[in-house]
Amino acid sequence: MTLNQTHPPALNDAEVEKRIKTLLNRMTLPEKIGQMAQWPGHGKLDGDLCDAIRKGQVGSVLNEVDTEILNEYQRIALEESRLGIPLIIGRDVIHGFHTMLPIPLGQAATWSPELLEQGAHMAAREAREVGIHWTFAPMIDITRDPRWGRIAESLGEDPYLTSVLGAAMVKGFQGDDLSADDRLAACAKHFAAYGYSEAGRDYAYVNLNEHELRNIVLRPFKAAAAAGVASFMTGFSDLNGVPASANEFLNRQILRAEWDYKGFVVSDWDSIIQLITHGFSENEKEAAAAAINAGVNMEMTSRSYLHHLEELIEEGRVDEELIDEAVSLILRIKFKLGLFEKAVIEAPQPADVPRPEHLDIAYQTALESVVLLKNDYHVLPLNRHAQRNVAVIGPLADDAYEQLGTWTFDGIEAWTETPLAALRRELPEHVQIHYAKGLSHTRSYDRSGFGEALEAASRSETVIMFMGEEAILSGEAHSRADINLPGAQNELLQELSRLGKTTVLVIMAGRPLTLDLTRHTTNALLYAWHPGTMGGKAIVDLILGEKTPSGKLPVSFPKHVGQIPIYYNQRSSGRPASRDSYVHIDEIPVRAPQTSVGNYSFHMDAGFEPLYPFGFGLSYTQFNFGEVYLEKERFAMGETISIYIDITNVGVREGAEVVQLYVRDRFASITRPVRELKRFKKVLLKPGEWQRLSFELTSADLEYFCKNKRWKAEPGDFDVWIGSDSRAHHHAQFTLTA
Ligand code: BGC
Repeated sequence: MTLNQTHPPALNDAEVEKRIKTLLNRMTLPEKIGQMAQWPGHGKLDGDLCDAIRKGQVGSVLNEVDTEILNEYQRIALEESRLGIPLIIGRDVIHGFHTMLPIPLGQAATWSPELLEQGAHMAAREAREVGIHWTFAPMIDITRDPRWGRIAESLGEDPYLTSVLGAAMVKGFQGDDLSADDRLAACAKHFAAYGYSEAGRDYAYVNLNEHELRNIVLRPFKAAAAAGVASFMTGFSDLNGVPASANEFLNRQILRAEWDYKGFVVSDWDSIIQLITHGFSENEKEAAAAAINAGVNMEMTSRSYLHHLEELIEEGRVDEELIDEAVSLILRIKFKLGLFEKAVIEAPQPADVPRPEHLDIAYQTALESVVLLKNDYHVLPLNRHAQRNVAVIGPLADDAYEQLGTWTFDGIEAWTETPLAALRRELPEHVQIHYAKGLSHTRSYDRSGFGEALEAASRSETVIMFMGEEAILSGEAHSRADINLPGAQNELLQELSRLGKTTVLVIMAGRPLTLDLTRHTTNALLYAWHPGTMGGKAIVDLILGEKTPSGKLPVSFPKHVGQIPIYYNQRSSGRPASRDSYVHIDEIPVRAPQTSVGNYSFHMDAGFEPLYPFGFGLSYTQFNFGEVYLEKERFAMGETISIYIDITNVGVREGAEVVQLYVRDRFASITRPVRELKRFKKVLLKPGEWQRLSFELTSADLEYFCKNKRWKAEPGDFDVWIGSDSRAHHHAQFTLTA
């Protein structure tokens, strides 16, 4: 059977509103409450779920991807429930569906909104074909803590980068017409501040003041709302004592009153009944009251709304208008998705063969996501013709499953090419590949494979190592306190490095790892995250110089776990450290007087800088930045200022550079970060080619949530820097006048 690619014409807004009203008038209270319930699927036709659908107790199903089962649920909803309202089917389509993209953190390292949009569109097409309508993505939680496993699913530490990339994903999933056969409704999650869980321990408490909340955490959510994201998901966290799923301040005041958001809000998995565990609600009924009153429109998996809303309304503790509000919001998305016209779909072709155009997107995204962190003596790219014997070592050289990353529910492992397979294909026939895993998996301490690995390396001129973390070591509920290379990988690395060969280390991981040791144990370091289906080819094309790396870190890399949180847009402090003021613990004389080494803000054993800063990434070519030119040095509130810089590729290879513009508001009513990313552009330049880039900033770009709880740009002096990472030093200054 072939998939019918046509879809009914989208309803216009007035028609949608009319139909919502008509339907709402016909609904009983229990039927309305039923629309607010989301039930999990179980991979088989579930009799209880069928009954509930028949009785109008189900508005949505999640985590069922079998088209035949989905069609049967839809058929029951349409034909056997009293009002025939279709179900909205949700799924975590986070970084691809069958064709896997790099994990979102890797996608963010591309700094390419175009690629993220294409990737989301690709995933939407594959998922919609099987009968899914709604994805729980993008996750736009800002986090500064690589211990937190869900950093893998995030777009990093910066509110501006996350806003731009998150909005691009929303556009890619949703397009202009949700009823199209290749689009999904998106969901901005987790509202809000989940990424600030204490100690990076998943689900833990979040203590965050309102300035930080609004200036950092909420910016990407506001951008997603402005991009028209169909839904929001509340978080699991307890924010300042009020869990997100009962948080009126977030879900009513900010989202609805201030942002005028028109989509619907779903809870997270059981997060309403978890209000009891938090110690916020005494029982399920109280939890339901708290969540509905706070503005949560749909309940994911738990049943507190189904069990208690009617009673709460009878008792006058919940206003029936809240139910009408929730149901209208949910129905609006169902109408826009075209579900009333087409909920049952023709079964798709089984996904036997990948689509070449999807593999291209996955390849390009993987390619641009890889960050070259180190390249001593320009050992990369390797000249494939100069090689005779190459050792390929490590637990992740040939593991298709692990390279797909967290949230690989539906990804097809068989479509995945590993780096080893790609090297075997790409290296000329005369090159001998000596492959040895060294360790069976990344957490292994069994050193019995070391001998074979050392032997393989001894016979080779070049040693390429693939290490890092298995997919299960990051993602939801998979936080780590020690974020070094797990198992005996560091030892293996050290032993291999002692052989004095040319060494290239490729890391695949779901988070920044503390890689301080690699300063001495490898010549080149490529950070590939979990790169997805096409990761093998992308990495090998970079190693062999077929392509040039252009990835940039979306998050700072600490040297040591004790530095966390370490992030570029920190505050100055009254005693900031500098390279001159920093004294290493080993340099302090014994019995030195307390004040003799100065009083500055650093760790004696780790300094004050990260191992690699936000925005950092090397290339095989070099770029030269000119002076920063300003169109004018003063500009007034409401005006725009243009800022220019020339960039030239002074190397011998074509390459892309991400040109980054940072700003500092020097003095403010609430202290501002030492730098804030405000603009970036990715430019591809041939050797010798140059380009003049112009960046426009308006006074609105300088606004922040300041003293007296107002959004304002405050007049005064600003620094601007442009460069290739967050340490950019090409500088100018301007004044914003009142
Ligand atoms: C996660 C959400 C996810 C949901 C549905 C929860 O555990 O926190 O991000 O979308 O499950 O699978």
